[in-house]
Amino acid sequence: MTADLSRAALETGDVLVVERLGGGLLELVARLPHLAATAMPGTFAQLRCGEGTTPLLRRPFSVAWTQDDICGFVFEAVGAGTRLLSELQPGDRLDTLGPLGHGFSVVDAGPVVCVSGGLGCAPFPLLINELRRRGVEDILVLNGARTATRLYPAERFARPAVSVVAEATDDGTRGHHGRVTDLLGQALASRPAALYACGPNPMLGAVMRTLLESGADLPPTLEASLEAPMGCGFGTCLGCALPVRAEDGSGAWKLCCTDGPVMPMRDVDWEGLSALPGADVA
Ligand SMILES: Cc1cc2nc3c(=O)[nH]c(=O)nc-3n(C[C@H](O)[C@H](O)[C@H](O)COP(=O)(O)OP(=O)(O)OC[C@H]3O[C@@H](n4cnc5c(N)ncnc54)[C@H](O)[C@@H]3O)c2cc1C
Ligand code: FES
Repeated sequence: MTADLSRAALETGDVLVVERLGGGLLELVARLPHLAATAMPGTFAQLRCGEGTTPLLRRPFSVAWTQDDICGFVFEAVGAGTRLLSELQPGDRLDTLGPLGHGFSVVDAGPVVCVSGGLGCAPFPLLINELRRRGVEDILVLNGARTATRLYPAERFARPAVSVVAEATDDGTRGHHGRVTDLLGQALASRPAALYACGPNPMLGAVMRTLLESGADLPPTLEASLEAPMGCGFGTCLGCALPVRAEDGSGAWKLCCTDGPVMPMRDVDWEGLSALPGADVA
């Protein structure tokens, strides 16, 4: 499956809120009627960061949630682009291109497990909202982060909040003391119809390893939202290739921006992915 780009559009809207959530997490809310009406769970938008030419390229962000004609994004100031986004004020303009990418295959029946690592929380509110619109209520979110302040607040995963959120922190300041993958064993006992994961690529690799080592049947729908350095965001620069396994087991490449960012976890070449260099984007 590849992205349907027919609804992607340039759209500039007013920033409404830039909220500091703690631990460096920020939630940016803007009035973007087109994106709010067309974003599907797991799709993303390329956001222009600042007025000048540095950074030159837009930066990709999951559409975290939509409500009426507004969209929310969750991010952290990690570099030049995100620092500029973090300085936006209500009334400033946000220049977007989206929706882009191939999102999650949303199931119609649970149980569903969502595994979030750090800022991997971003696509889940929109996904959970769509699952619930389809009548799926049995949703367990496993939310992991380095420390308590960096956990996306449990009540924001679903509005209104009904999903069960189990938390894990590396330093034990909230929830389970350890990795979010430690929580997978119990989650698999419910024999989920779908497991969706999002987080740094190494964490996604650890999720897949844990699932395989558990010996449990893999959920029929097993998908992860992957990261790659992105230039264009719509399949022309070829800068976001990720290693996958073709049907005959041979190695192949797919584009994170149009074949993904959401891909079946069974198809990803996790070893090849872990050997890729880090993102370095102009
Ligand atoms: C499809 C997709 C959706 C994303 N959604 C979100 C989101 O919802 N929230 C969020 O906080 N981040 C998200 N990211 C990552 C985000 O795009 C990067 O953090 C951002 O581009 C960094 O820009 P910068 O100019 O601030 O940092 P830079 O100065 O460009 O880089 C700073 C650091 O970020 C890393 N980085 C740069 N680009 C990427 C990238 N594309 N993916 C991962 N790491 C990168 C670099 O290796 C470096 O360590 C997403 C990435 C992709 C591919
Ligand atoms: S970002 Fe340009 S091809 Fe994917």
